[in-house]
Amino acid sequence: MPFREFITIMRARWRVITLSLLLVVGVAAAVTILTPPRYTATAKVYLATDAPSGADQSAYVITRQDLNTYVEVLKSPAFTDPLAEELDLTAGAGVSVEGEVSETSNILSLTATGSDPELVTRAANAAGPLLATVAKDFSPLLALNDQTVTAQDISPAVTPSDPVSPDPVRNIGLGVLLGLAIGIGLALLRQAVDTRVRRVEDVNAISPRPILGEVPLERQRRDDPLGVESDPHGGYAESIRRLRTNLLFVDVTTGGHTFVVTSSMPGEGKTTTTINLALAMAGAGSRVLLIDGDLRNPSVASTMGLEGGIGLTTILLGRAEPVDVIQKWGSSTLDVLAAGQIPPNPSELLGSEPMALLFDKLTRDYDFVLVDSPPIVPVIDAVLLNKLTNGLIMVVAGDRTRKRDLTSAVQSLETVEVPISGFVLNMVRTGGPNGNRYGGYYGYGHHARDAAKGTRGARKRSTSSI
Ligand SMILES: Nc1ncnc2c1ncn2[C@@H]1O[C@H](COP(=O)(O)OP(=O)(O)O)[C@@H](O)[C@H]1O
Ligand SMILES: [Mg+2]
Repeated sequence: MPFREFITIMRARWRVITLSLLLVVGVAAAVTILTPPRYTATAKVYLATDAPSGADQSAYVITRQDLNTYVEVLKSPAFTDPLAEELDLTAGAGVSVEGEVSETSNILSLTATGSDPELVTRAANAAGPLLATVAKDFSPLLALNDQTVTAQDISPAVTPSDPVSPDPVRNIGLGVLLGLAIGIGLALLRQAVDTRVRRVEDVNAISPRPILGEVPLERQRRDDPLGVESDPHGGYAESIRRLRTNLLFVDVTTGGHTFVVTSSMPGEGKTTTTINLALAMAGAGSRVLLIDGDLRNPSVASTMGLEGGIGLTTILLGRAEPVDVIQKWGSSTLDVLAAGQIPPNPSELLGSEPMALLFDKLTRDYDFVLVDSPPIVPVIDAVLLNKLTNGLIMVVAGDRTRKRDLTSAVQSLETVEVPISGFVLNMVRTGGPNGNRYGGYYGYGHHARDAAKGTRGARKRSTSSI
């Protein structure tokens, strides 16, 4: 995997990484707090034999083997019982002593470990003399010669100020490393099993057709869908205007100016995008007709606060003339044709001869005609509408549209030989004012390259006019 792609994935999935990091560090912190502190203190003693005066001069010398035996004795009751007695402890309570033999001399390092720093110090200092006392029981030759072992202090134990465990720095450090490793692992795993479209690359992998625009996810669009009008300088309006400009290049290649807007499934933002695109086009002075071609779930009129009961189907039924039912949008150059009453046979109606004639008549009076439509996967209405228009725009909802559904929609369009003019990636999560979480593709990526070769400069300055 290229490093850049890795970074892109990490940025996109920073939540799971942060969560795993916090969780593991939290556990490490809890373990650190809950672990009872343990202290150690070490005393060094020199063990020698001591013969009674006037005894045989062939004094026994402590061997390395003896010293190793004494280290073992530290664990036996022969040592622990008298130690407990001396320290005033119940046997085996809270302190243990371990020994280490020096490589070069009869020096023993005696390390006491326990939960009480004072106690471990006393235990380490008491261990040497005590060991010397019991030593002769484990060196028969020594006892035979009537010799004793003495322990000479080399360095006494000092009271430790810090515990040896838990070690907060080590525990938290390990927690950070482990948390990051788990988080990155989960992020890569989720990426591998991700079934949703997240970014332009995912769309490119399904269809070679250009991305005409990326529209940011803005929570306020739910209550205030007409973002181009209510917040003309915001990121949403800006992205719609960029889409408008890119459509001009599609226009050049198709030679037409009528578009049907669809998507693979409901709820991807067809209606919202179409209305705002129409507003942006009208805002640039073009005469625009917005038609609600979604005769199954019409929502253009309700979204815009217009009368929805009369419209396209009313004309098709012969009950009204276009001029009677087309509604003006304020004082702008935008006209809206709502769906009218919901018919029982939308597909038949959209594919009918009167519909073709009506559409032909309507388009002549406008610079642009945009038709909202139902989604492709469940119904074929958009294909029928596409026969009337010059181009088909496919809206894809970032983080929402399933790759499977988009693939299915693209394939059904290919089967009936309907070319997709381009995609609009809607609901793109923005990571900040100037970029999104996919590392700056937003706005100026390689999308629309096919449709708008060499137009980057124009697209950057697309706010002025269409
Ligand atoms: N870019 C966006 N950011 C936030 N919400 C959006 C965006 N685009 C659409 N929505 C919301 O998503 C919902 C579905 O949008 P809609 O246009 O009705 O989808 P469709 O026509 O494809 O069924 C609506 O509530 C709409 O306000
Ligand atoms: Mg809709």
